[in-house]
Amino acid sequence: GNRKPFVAANWKLHGSRSQLERFTTACLKGLSDDVETVLCPSHVHLDFASNLLAEQSLMKLGAQSVSQHKSGAYTGEVSCEMLIEAGCRYVIVGHSERRRLFGETSFIVAEKFAAVRAAGLIPILCLGESGAARQARRTFEVIAEELDIVLEKNGAMAFDNAIIAYEPIWAVGTGKCATPEQAQEVHSFIRGRLAEDTPVIGDKVRIIYGGSLTPANARDLFAQPDVDGGLIGGASLDDQAFLGIVEAAK
Ligand code: G3H
Repeated sequence: GNRKPFVAANWKLHGSRSQLERFTTACLKGLSDDVETVLCPSHVHLDFASNLLAEQSLMKLGAQSVSQHKSGAYTGEVSCEMLIEAGCRYVIVGHSERRRLFGETSFIVAEKFAAVRAAGLIPILCLGESGAARQARRTFEVIAEELDIVLEKNGAMAFDNAIIAYEPIWAVGTGKCATPEQAQEVHSFIRGRLAEDTPVIGDKVRIIYGGSLTPANARDLFAQPDVDGGLIGGASLDDQAFLGIVEAAK
């Protein structure tokens, strides 16, 4: 297709400096530039990872979360400007763990998306339904609601330089990957919704899948016409597994 495959490693609350050193060394040997890759380690490791990733363009740096505020009395938070100083280009926004465990509402997610865009960073916006919502056949309704609030605040043109990650909550860290058909159906729905507003954006935006991806299941997912890559949790902690998934995205 005309959309460059995109694969990101989300290390969540894992990793150390020595693990980062080993991972980036192995990845920089194994990667080629037909797939765009991003590493998202913890905030405290960004500076260190930025040095490891200096002077090359095969793997870029992203953050797992950011404050919607520029500065102020927000203990424990990190701003977009701080992320830029640490060498970040991408920021995951609205991961289901942030929404569920840290009280990030869709409204806050829309504000974060706006802050990230305003700072010149590239958001990776996560959307996804719970297992209960899927069982109740409310998948499209949930996805539409999560997407629309970001669209209303930012406009479709804001997706000119943004990534969307479809991450069904029931598939995240469970070993239960969505089927290629389940992913394709939702990706096509998301793309269609953006295209309805602004056709060129619908065509251009990369929509990646996340949830229990492995080198074994990634190829079938990535073969779907509207699946442009992956957001990898567990499997991204292992350089060979991550490289296997990147290979499947080619
Ligand atoms: O951000 C990554 C996703 O939450 C997927 O995690 O690959 O461990 O299921 P997982």
